[in-house]
Amino acid sequence: MSLFKTSIVLVSLLFVCIEAHLRDKAKQKYIGTALAAHALSDPEYNQMAGAEFNSASPENEMKWAALETSRGHYNFGDADKLVAYAQQHDMKMRGHTFLWHRRIPAYAEALHGNKAELEKVVKEHITKVATHFKGKIYAWDVVNEVLNEDGSGNKLRKGLFLDTLGPSYVEEAFRTAHAADPNAKLYINDYGIEGKNKKSDALYELVKEWKAKGVPIHGVGVQAHFREGGVASTLHENLKRFADLGLDVAITELNIRYKLPGSADKKAKQAQDYEKAFSACKTIPRCVGVTVWGFTDKYSNIFDKGYGEQELWDQHYKPKSAVNAVEKELI
Ligand code: XIL
Repeated sequence: MSLFKTSIVLVSLLFVCIEAHLRDKAKQKYIGTALAAHALSDPEYNQMAGAEFNSASPENEMKWAALETSRGHYNFGDADKLVAYAQQHDMKMRGHTFLWHRRIPAYAEALHGNKAELEKVVKEHITKVATHFKGKIYAWDVVNEVLNEDGSGNKLRKGLFLDTLGPSYVEEAFRTAHAADPNAKLYINDYGIEGKNKKSDALYELVKEWKAKGVPIHGVGVQAHFREGGVASTLHENLKRFADLGLDVAITELNIRYKLPGSADKKAKQAQDYEKAFSACKTIPRCVGVTVWGFTDKYSNIFDKGYGEQELWDQHYKPKSAVNAVEKELI
């Protein structure tokens, strides 16, 4: 190789090495991403996740139906793969999630109305999974999306768990998880509780009650799947009131989708929205970090028809302006 060519190669290598990554600025508060085990075989995805982020959440791999396909038959393969990846890349690992109204295995769903049996399998499931990952999980979303929409009644979503076990199932889940992995931070996680509203007011009351009763709850996670312009204006105020109760708070599933087709203007507004969300966490000492739900549009779950391009990098791994905007808010 000529001297000229060699210098070009060396200079480009130098650029790759000194290129800033988000995690380099996220020292006091982590910056996380959801990881999908299947996408790790994509070399670019595999390289970027660990280079940019210092925390990871399993997108689907730790959900009940993914882990325990039928009663007592566990398949930890994909979840273990993600935990190993996080350890290799010096990332925190969040656990997601023991109880959710979706992705329940058929055998458990069939126990609707059978209190004694359902109680038993819920306890078995949480104990088995928390014990399997003991010491490797920084924080667990013990229960996910268990609140009802308007804070009415006993404030909890109707369905298998509430109908069959009654409202105390949430407290029980926290107690069971704590007994199995006493060092993990235990969270309640939900959507629609990002700002101050009836749903987050109801959660606030519940959390106060649980704390007073000694339930081992340590954190509140707000999902934050927003539409363009939809970052709750009271996000900071709301996170702060939970922090003031003596809890950790975190943004756990951030992304900001816009109506397709995209444009430069939409991307610029999206950058401002991302910045708003990160800045809401920045000045609250007990806001421990922000996790984005995927980082590239290449592997992105859109559940809102006509909307998309919600992640920080596009489908070709090209950074959007949101990446720079977010970087400014990291500490
Ligand atoms: C989503 C995943 O991103 C999808 O791949 C899957 O099909 C459904 O679940 N709230 C949550 C997450 O807590 O677990 C959900 O993840 C998105 C909404």
